Amino acid sequence: MNIYLIFTSTRAVIKAEECLRSHDLDCQVIPVPKDISSECGMALSIAEELKGRAESLLAQLGLEVRVHTPAGKRIPPFDLLTTVEQGGCSAKLPPDVLFEALGRLTVPTDPNLLVGIGTGDDAGVYRLTDEIALIETTDFFPPVCSDPYDFGQIAAANALSDVYAMGGKVLTAMNLVMFPACGIPFEALHEIVRGGQDKVLEAGGLLVGGHTIADYPPKYGLAVTGVVHPDRLINNANAEPGQALILTKPLGTGALVAGQRLGQAAAADYQRALDSMKQLNRAAAEIMQEFSVRAATDITGFGLLGHALNIAKASGVTVEIDTTLIPSLPGALELLDAGCIPGASFRNLSHVEESCDFAPELTYTRKMLTLDPQTSGGILLCAPADRAEAILAELLKRCCPASAIIGRTSSLGRKYLVVR
Ligand code: CO
Ligand code: CO
Repeated sequence: MNIYLIFTSTRAVIKAEECLRSHDLDCQVIPVPKDISSECGMALSIAEELKGRAESLLAQLGLEVRVHTPAGKRIPPFDLLTTVEQGGCSAKLPPDVLFEALGRLTVPTDPNLLVGIGTGDDAGVYRLTDEIALIETTDFFPPVCSDPYDFGQIAAANALSDVYAMGGKVLTAMNLVMFPACGIPFEALHEIVRGGQDKVLEAGGLLVGGHTIADYPPKYGLAVTGVVHPDRLINNANAEPGQALILTKPLGTGALVAGQRLGQAAAADYQRALDSMKQLNRAAAEIMQEFSVRAATDITGFGLLGHALNIAKASGVTVEIDTTLIPSLPGALELLDAGCIPGASFRNLSHVEESCDFAPELTYTRKMLTLDPQTSGGILLCAPADRAEAILAELLKRCCPASAIIGRTSSLGRKYLVVR
């Protein structure tokens, strides 16, 4: 039978765990069960017979501790969301800050560097031979959901996505892990990297290494290497006026993750968001290659408009979006309507505002949907007008049942983005 030790701060929990373990007292960090009130979200679970020794050790450390004897025996699984305020791609730095800092770097040029840092693209691309170009990308973030195995899958799917956005094939991946030495059961770490590995395998890639740093809250992601034929590269800069814009996954993961945290999202809707975030963009990339699509990006933390703006600027076109055509996850619009709007949405708005013409009749809810930060979102591709319907039909049939044509490109007008 285990008892719970309740502390006044997360720091105290970590200190206590360290102390007890160093004296060979086995203990486990758990989220504080709902029936106990506490100032911090975590507690230590320890065998009842160790109670006396633990209490005297903690008293020596000067730690204030309250003992709780649970009625039942089951220890709830560790909830990763107790470690973060902003998870997933919402934890990205604001785009303005990022561009300001990166904009001051010298941009390297090399005839073999096909895509560098200059165009805000999804990955770097370097030509090795006339047949092979290397795609390099990395992504990692703090927990976006409670379950460690789900988190691992989502973080990996999100990192792999940038290879797919370039039309590439995944070869290898390396784990990027930040995880505290104390404070979270190590079983959670195992589940995170297991989720990541499963997605790398599903992508047809090999996990070949990685790097770990002790850090709290935890973060996880991958550095991914892929390949593409240099002539078949898909990037932000190849869009042409008169193309149809196709989005392959519904928007709204930001709102649903926020809604879940506030206890406002319906369980079935939240599950749909998790499933969507876990889905690889692999089949979408294959379809783009089959139809010779040459411009696309994936939608992540900067929202639909932030990523569409990258295409518009890099290609020198205007991107026109009809918000009534945008697919959204069930429940997302209702949550946005109820004010469940992640902070990153407002940062995304201030980033695109001056480049964007919002139609006066556009509802606030639909506007916020276009700015909703996506974690592991879909592909936004520019389809030649004569192939758009065929590409859409293939996407709907093979992988992406929510795919839709959501607008078009036109020659550059007064603004890069027109949203109605
Ligand atoms: Co991307
Ligand atoms: Co990225």
